[in-house]
Amino acid sequence: MFALKARLRDAEKAKSLMVEKGLIDNSFRSKKDSKHIYFPLKEKAFVKGFEIVEIDFEKNNKPVAMDLKSLLKGKLSEEYFERLKSSYDVIGSIAILEIDEELRGKEKVIAEALLESNTTIKTVLRKDAAHRTEFRTQKMKFLAGIDTRETVHKENNVLLKLDVENVYFSPRLSTERKRISEQVKPGEDILVMFSGCSPYPCVLSKITEAKGIVGIEINPAGHKYGLENVKMNKIKNVELINGDVRLEVPKMNKKFDRIIMPLPKEAQDFLDVAFQAAMKGTRIHFYQFLHEDNFGEAEKKAKEEALKYGFKFKYLDLVKCGQHSPRVYRICLDFEVQ
Ligand SMILES: C[S@@+](CC[C@H](N)C(=O)[O-])C[C@H]1O[C@@H](n2cnc3c(N)ncnc32)[C@H](O)[C@@H]1O
Repeated sequence: MFALKARLRDAEKAKSLMVEKGLIDNSFRSKKDSKHIYFPLKEKAFVKGFEIVEIDFEKNNKPVAMDLKSLLKGKLSEEYFERLKSSYDVIGSIAILEIDEELRGKEKVIAEALLESNTTIKTVLRKDAAHRTEFRTQKMKFLAGIDTRETVHKENNVLLKLDVENVYFSPRLSTERKRISEQVKPGEDILVMFSGCSPYPCVLSKITEAKGIVGIEINPAGHKYGLENVKMNKIKNVELINGDVRLEVPKMNKKFDRIIMPLPKEAQDFLDVAFQAAMKGTRIHFYQFLHEDNFGEAEKKAKEEALKYGFKFKYLDLVKCGQHSPRVYRICLDFEVQ
């Protein structure tokens, strides 16, 4: 079968080029000799700077992904096992674990088991702190596999390249991005506040007939990847701005058909900015973290702010799109400005 031949020191570069193009056939195991590594390809391909050869590969018999607890049965003591969190995120080829302080002595065992379990996982990292910076990023500790923070993630038919340590991205929001995209009508002008590495703008562009989408992101690293992602997905109707929503929106002096506010902890402080870019008929997607007894808070805040700008509020929907902590959810309130 066809293989890409790379010198061992160029393995990472070759791999990321192939991941970007979706060329690697993960059902076979890559091969190495003393100087080279050979990656199995799905088809004959041209990858600039690398030789394509024909060799035989062995089938990859690693089991497919399972939850951590099933993977670690028998490898940790009963006490450790009970305390282990069983979920983890996979962004592209990077798995990200959360491990409590008292389990950290076993974190390498946990990471190696995860790496072994899934052919698409090449790197295992652990979150080092909660989302603390103004950019919502967090330090990561390298645990196993290839020591990198950059990867290409695929969702809703778009490729998203990012550095998982320096840019916020949650793969758990892909269904939510699809939900919003399904509401978009042809010809809409859309504003995505807090656009990160541009998952909302790219997905909206790919699966809707929106006229134009503007994304605003304050983190220079997020903005840089956003620009790269727009280019990589051959998108033409997205404009990205690196700056503070509070300053950039008034400068545009423009009204939008739809405004998306994916900053659940603070979106309420930007409702005034959203109303400056709204007109009658604008639909707003307002994210919040709320306890299930207080979901009504979101509507209260949006209604109050609408009144200040001389608008009426029309409720459309309220959906749960993630869980933050026990009984506290990430919710999205969809409403129309009237
Ligand atoms: C929760 S993340 C969401 C990112 C992206 N929309 C996504 O879904 O992956 C919020 C983003 O808002 C950005 N941000 C925070 N305050 C901002 C502001 N005042 N203006 C523009 N961006 C801001 C952060 O840097 C971060 O990337």
